[in-house]
Amino acid sequence: RTVYVNGDFLPEEDARISVFDRGFLFADGVYEVSTVLEGRLIDNEAHLIRLQRSLDELKMGCPVTKDELVELQKELIRRNNLVEGGLYLQVTRGAADREFGFPRDAKPSLVMFTQVKNLINSPVAEKGLKVISVPDIRWQRRDIKSVGLLAPALAKQAAVDAGADDAWMYEDGFVTEGSSNNAYIITKAGVIVTRHLGNEILHGITRRSVLALAAENNITIEERPFTLEEAADAAEAFVTSATTFVTAVVSLDGKQIGSGKPGPLANRLRQLYIEQAL
Ligand code: PDD
Repeated sequence: RTVYVNGDFLPEEDARISVFDRGFLFADGVYEVSTVLEGRLIDNEAHLIRLQRSLDELKMGCPVTKDELVELQKELIRRNNLVEGGLYLQVTRGAADREFGFPRDAKPSLVMFTQVKNLINSPVAEKGLKVISVPDIRWQRRDIKSVGLLAPALAKQAAVDAGADDAWMYEDGFVTEGSSNNAYIITKAGVIVTRHLGNEILHGITRRSVLALAAENNITIEERPFTLEEAADAAEAFVTSATTFVTAVVSLDGKQIGSGKPGPLANRLRQLYIEQAL
């Protein structure tokens, strides 16, 4: 693979980042994952707007302009002949001697790499996800797409250890989101319920597209918190993210949701989303 690091396109084994990079020492950095389909970036503009918001919230600069960033992204896709998968990009505050306060002279680091993935014909999406619930132990600014991902990594590993596919995190009895996706249920009345935007969840780019598609198709949406009990009793459930699109959730804590198979509305939304993206 060719990766990008601070101005250079390099074979991954030759790429270098300082031991003193604050991304490494403090998780002092932000990231984005954009979808690539047929060699093209999907919804990239929205990802870059969210990147800028994350950077602003952390008072961090970006070493290149937005237009330069897009050109670098396209160049990386070209150099790797990426047809379908993800493009990861990360900006950290840069390298400086280890002090908690922001260094005055550090230059932000920009790193990018691609990942080949079968996103459309995903075997996982066909089967649906088994999820377990775990307490949400993350910090209180989950709207910032920070690289501090230890809590979600622990949640995902707990799911794998339990023989499941993913974890839904909850707080005060209400589901916040999945380990790396937004969470939804569909009630028996056919209403989509997903948590409202706030600092408690990431403002998903896929979430926005899918809710717009649902509205266009006259599907009722309620943006509010839902409980684990409601989820267990729902007709269907699903998650959204740049790398899963719409993927059905078929069980929660070992109890099947609805038929225990990906439901009709989740399948339809997945289809609508893919058609729109292509
Ligand atoms: N994760 N919530 C969390 C906690 C996430 O990490 C993500 C994305 C989402 C969905 O956001 P979007 O629709 O913009 O991808 C929601 C990415 C894919 C990741 O960390 O790999």
